[in-house]
Amino acid sequence: MTGHSRGKTTANSRNQRASAARRGWWRGGVIYQAYPRSWSDSNGDGIGDLRGIIDRLDYLEWLGIDGLWLNPLMPSPDHDWGYDVSDYKAIHPAMGTLDDFDELVAQAARRAIRIVFDLVPSHTSDRHAWFLDARSSKSSRYRDYYVWRRPGPRGSLPNNWMNYFGRAAWSFDDGTGEYYMHNFSPHQPQLNWWNAEVREEFDRILNFWLERGIGGVRLDAVQALLYDKQFRDNPPATRADSDKERRIGQRLKYNANHPDVHRIVRRWHSLAAQFDPQRLLLGETWVPSIRQMVKYYGNGTDEFDLTWNLTFLRSPFASRPLRQIIELTLRLLPDDAWAAWAASTHDDEGRATTRWCGGVPATIRCAMLLLLTLRGTPIIYYGDEIGMTEPLLGKMRRALRDEESGRSRDGSRTPMQWKAAPGAGFTSSTQPWLPLGDASVANVETQSADRGSVLWLVRDLLALRRTFDDLAVGELALVSSPAGTLAWHRGKSAFIAVNLGTSMRRIRTSGQILICTDRTRDQEYVAEWLELRSREAVVVRSTSR
Ligand code: GLC
Ligand code: CA
Repeated sequence: MTGHSRGKTTANSRNQRASAARRGWWRGGVIYQAYPRSWSDSNGDGIGDLRGIIDRLDYLEWLGIDGLWLNPLMPSPDHDWGYDVSDYKAIHPAMGTLDDFDELVAQAARRAIRIVFDLVPSHTSDRHAWFLDARSSKSSRYRDYYVWRRPGPRGSLPNNWMNYFGRAAWSFDDGTGEYYMHNFSPHQPQLNWWNAEVREEFDRILNFWLERGIGGVRLDAVQALLYDKQFRDNPPATRADSDKERRIGQRLKYNANHPDVHRIVRRWHSLAAQFDPQRLLLGETWVPSIRQMVKYYGNGTDEFDLTWNLTFLRSPFASRPLRQIIELTLRLLPDDAWAAWAASTHDDEGRATTRWCGGVPATIRCAMLLLLTLRGTPIIYYGDEIGMTEPLLGKMRRALRDEESGRSRDGSRTPMQWKAAPGAGFTSSTQPWLPLGDASVANVETQSADRGSVLWLVRDLLALRRTFDDLAVGELALVSSPAGTLAWHRGKSAFIAVNLGTSMRRIRTSGQILICTDRTRDQEYVAEWLELRSREAVVVRSTSR
């Protein structure tokens, strides 16, 4: 796969790109998210690792991505698969070593790929040295790194706070006779971000990784950093709240979503701003509305560079809600801010190929074309580029189960399918850490040899973005279009139309189809009416604007 070259760029587009790069490599760029345990196993223990990723960088270069986001790589007892960190300045032994990491960063840079590193500031593992010390005595020097409360009357919980997994946000520590707070599992004690020492520790941690030349960091669960100092009870959920909060029965108002969190994000921003070239700060802003999400951009240049658009990810895959969400996101973003779009996740919502598309190939192609043509940075979740769906795994096996949604996260974390062979090219072990999906249905080897595959659709869309600046950075303007369809301009001459309805639709435009989800229509000329069949989508170089 190394033989393929990147798309050719003109001098003009190189200049535009150079100026975009000064404003951040992610503007106009594309991020690929690989779940490291599941992507490529180099030593046959059934667990993906850093050497496995290094071995497969040629694939990512061939695909044409700009950034590679890896879920947490640090030592962890893996109660929440790496999101319970026991040492912030080291690499999980199953993943490799710091040397491997440095080599990954260097090898990726050679291919113009930046590594985006997942950092978990809201909580540590209960095995982290700070927490072990903190719980050893009330006078521990680390006691105030965490959030402790005396029991209420007759040993009751300190207040009514519930965590994101739908359980009480407090666990009792027998040794010191107090409760500690956790916004996620009891193995993830909440760090006390009101404590200046905690903030300073994280400055050092952030520097430690940014200095290694990575392209940026993804910051986990930032809405959960701060809590109400008066420990007031959360109010009951109302119809205006997210479905999660309604199911839990309360609005997570006082154990999370504190407005002062923005001061912390600004602090990180000024820290990252000292690096050249600019490092990406991608915030996991797990908030129920776009209005709340856009606040994490601050004034557009002083908080996160990109935020996690949960509302988009959770939208039904239908033209009307998508249209509203796209329109609202772009309208509410502060000037100068840049959107991020993801359709799939390693968390409860899982893969769009299943949730949005029900595994139907034509719909999967529409989803990929839509994701890669909106204005903002697309985040491709590993395996989506080959249309990998979630296998039925029967009962929950490994993943932390979200008690609240009752859904296991395993389905979207199964190993990458490289070829139709035992171990799917992911591992030589007969026991991958999670079961494999059916690699004979979707795998890289077969699809890379087939120009009509979804993999080639994705690759061609990425290549087109590199040569067609309107598509990479152009303004987005939605246009009205028939029921069931979505259509928008990008810049002067890109026009995108997607038909998610059940019947053929005609959309007024003229120009040439550059890429259609049905590849036999590539290069077709459109004089006045574009006919789009159900579950068909196109990028047109238009002459009608
Ligand atoms: C984020 C992660 C999720 C994790 C949680 C707690 O939402 O994406 O996997 O369980 O934070 O760290
Ligand atoms: Ca391994």
